[in-house]
Amino acid sequence: MIMRNVVIAAALALAAFAVYRIVINRSEAPTSSVSVVVPELLGDAQAGKEVFDATCAKCHGVNASGTNAGPPLVHKIYEPNHHADAAFLLAVRNGVRAHHWPYGDMPPVPAVTGADVAKIVAYVRQLQKANGIF
Ligand code: HEC
Repeated sequence: MIMRNVVIAAALALAAFAVYRIVINRSEAPTSSVSVVVPELLGDAQAGKEVFDATCAKCHGVNASGTNAGPPLVHKIYEPNHHADAAFLLAVRNGVRAHHWPYGDMPPVPAVTGADVAKIVAYVRQLQKANGIF
């Protein structure tokens, strides 16, 4: 009888531990963040990085590596053939309705000018290129 209780207690402890692990793993679920190699930034890319860090990185992450609020832009989805430079201008002007990812919509970023977007594009393309996206 005691032996049976011990077995039941052990089974319950194991089950509790399994549930605990599932809950912990969920709360620590990795974002889609990718690791990004940062090349030497040429031309407008350095200025683009500054605007990006100030206005985009809170969602798209440092070095466009993604966060739990937005996708990495150093990602195959955003290669030039799939998201041309104009897609960046449209995203900043109009925002983006969630369609590729589960993060929700991107709001428009009216403080960022067209000239700034061009610099951001230079920055993101150099990051993409250095990381083998295209
Ligand atoms: C509040 C969070 C947030 C901020 C700030 C933000 N974005 Fe986004 N962005 C998103 C999310 C989320 C998506 C993905 C939507 C989807 O496809 O599911 C996205 C998608 C994009 C896309 C892809 C557009 C498309 O056509 O699919 C581009 C380009 C982009 N963002 C650029 C930028 C730039 C540049 C900035 C800074 C000026 C910026 N984002 C700031 C959240 C953000």
